[in-house]
Amino acid sequence: MIKNKNILVCVLMAVFGGWLNGAHAMTEASIAERLKPVGEVCVQGQPCAAAGASTGASGGAAGARTGHEIVNKFCSVCHATGLLNAPKIGDSAAWKARSDSQGGLDGLLKFALSGLNAMPPKGTCADCSDDELKAAIQHMSGL
Ligand code: HEC
Repeated sequence: MIKNKNILVCVLMAVFGGWLNGAHAMTEASIAERLKPVGEVCVQGQPCAAAGASTGASGGAAGARTGHEIVNKFCSVCHATGLLNAPKIGDSAAWKARSDSQGGLDGLLKFALSGLNAMPPKGTCADCSDDELKAAIQHMSGL
């Protein structure tokens, strides 16, 4: 009789443990769901770039990188100092002149993708998406 009781307890614990695990998974799923819209707003919006960069290191496993992150990692090598005549980060006049003569932001993106003279294709960020490159250009130019 005692033996049977032990078995019953074991079964109960297995069932209850399983239920707890299920509840835990649900909690994680709902947290992920609640976090999602915040991530999307940060990726798309410029004012959120700084906030996105600070969370970028820990979270955002599959999300797009912010313009700020891309620039720091790939573009600032040349664009921070104006190396080889690269338009400098924050020199909005220089960027605007290029943008005006090359069909706006999309024109700049086209040259960023193909490269231009000393500017390497995709600015050396080979796995950058168009959106990420565009965000990087916006971050550097303020356009
Ligand atoms: C190896 C240095 C280098 C790196 C790295 C680099 N650039 Fe450039 N970039 C240049 C130079 C030089 C120019 C100016 C080219 C010219 O007008 O002859 C330029 C110009 C540009 C332009 C203007 C193109 C136009 O239409 O006038 C854009 C946009 C641009 N870079 C985006 C980026 C982005 C985005 C990154 C990072 C992902 C990046 N660059 C990384 C050197 C670099």
